[in-house]
Amino acid sequence: MKEALAHCIQTTNVAGFLEKNIYRGKVRDVYRLYNEKLAIVTTDRISAFDHILQEAIPYKGQILNTIASFFLEQVEDIIPTHLLSVPHPNVTIAKDCRVIPIEVVVRGYLTGHAWRVYKNGGRVLCGVTLPDGMKEHQRFPTPIITPATKADQGHDEDISEQEILTRQIVSPELWEAITNTALKLFERGTEIAEKRGLLLVDTKYEFGLYQSQLTLIDEVHTPDSSRYFYADGYEERLSNDEPQKQLSKEFVREWLMENKFFGKDGETLPNLTDEFRIEVYQRYAELFNQITGRDFIPTETKDFNLTLESIINENMTVGKSKP
Ligand SMILES: Nc1ncnc2c1ncn2[C@@H]1O[C@H](COP(=O)(O)OP(=O)(O)O)[C@@H](O)[C@H]1O
Ligand SMILES: [Mg+2]
Repeated sequence: MKEALAHCIQTTNVAGFLEKNIYRGKVRDVYRLYNEKLAIVTTDRISAFDHILQEAIPYKGQILNTIASFFLEQVEDIIPTHLLSVPHPNVTIAKDCRVIPIEVVVRGYLTGHAWRVYKNGGRVLCGVTLPDGMKEHQRFPTPIITPATKADQGHDEDISEQEILTRQIVSPELWEAITNTALKLFERGTEIAEKRGLLLVDTKYEFGLYQSQLTLIDEVHTPDSSRYFYADGYEERLSNDEPQKQLSKEFVREWLMENKFFGKDGETLPNLTDEFRIEVYQRYAELFNQITGRDFIPTETKDFNLTLESIINENMTVGKSKP
């Protein structure tokens, strides 16, 4: 496992590829190819509280990318997705979409940010009225949509449907299609999770336009974009006011908070120890097994930049040969 620590994919580089054609996000390096295609590399970087941690997690990128494609393939009857192929467990070749700058958050339960607002007396979240008398982790009568703006820098901010329309970020017709689709996706995610003994608690979708068609992009139902609870014993824990058994990267946030990092300005990011990095890997692998029902088998990532180069070359040649 020490070996794996040395081979984490922290950042990627392809000889001769112009930096201006690469978007380096918190977790992904996105290469813009020819022919409206992207090579999206899910690296082993990990972010928490919107900060990228200095140390990477072995095989985290493969785990996330594989979970995302696992779900993308199972929602293609609901909406076209950006997925074209997965030539390597760290890489997705995707349709290059015009991103709609809204994070479409769907919540089935009163958890996380929604709970923090509620606990402080808030009864309206992103324009949605929350019922009185609820407790933490309780299921909403029906899932709610609490969008956030996709900020170029810093934290994403809550936004209401009203404001999305007033600011003309999307047209009313498109917004209706987006929300209908998001609820259908959440229903499908819930069904798939149920079969694995999990409850899909909340998640975030991103959409784009590809040849004017609404398209599901980015990651879907991964532990970075979603929260899950173990279904077994959920009701009992809820009525006894006990914490829920969560499957998400919440434990990383907890570790950071134990180490005095809350994501506020002026705080220093603690360094992750080797032991903790391995523990995080093991938790992600466990998550993978639980969610997909398959064992996670790592793929060697030594000389990954060379592998990426040949993947990119192959996909660019295809693009160039088209008129
Ligand atoms: N098919 C796509 N077309 C265009 N952009 C995409 C597509 N899929 C994902 N993206 C964008 O690529 C980026 C993925 O990198 P990520 O590390 O998640 O970035 P961020 O820090 O912005 O969340 C996101 O900004 C996402 O909106
Ligand atoms: Mg992201």
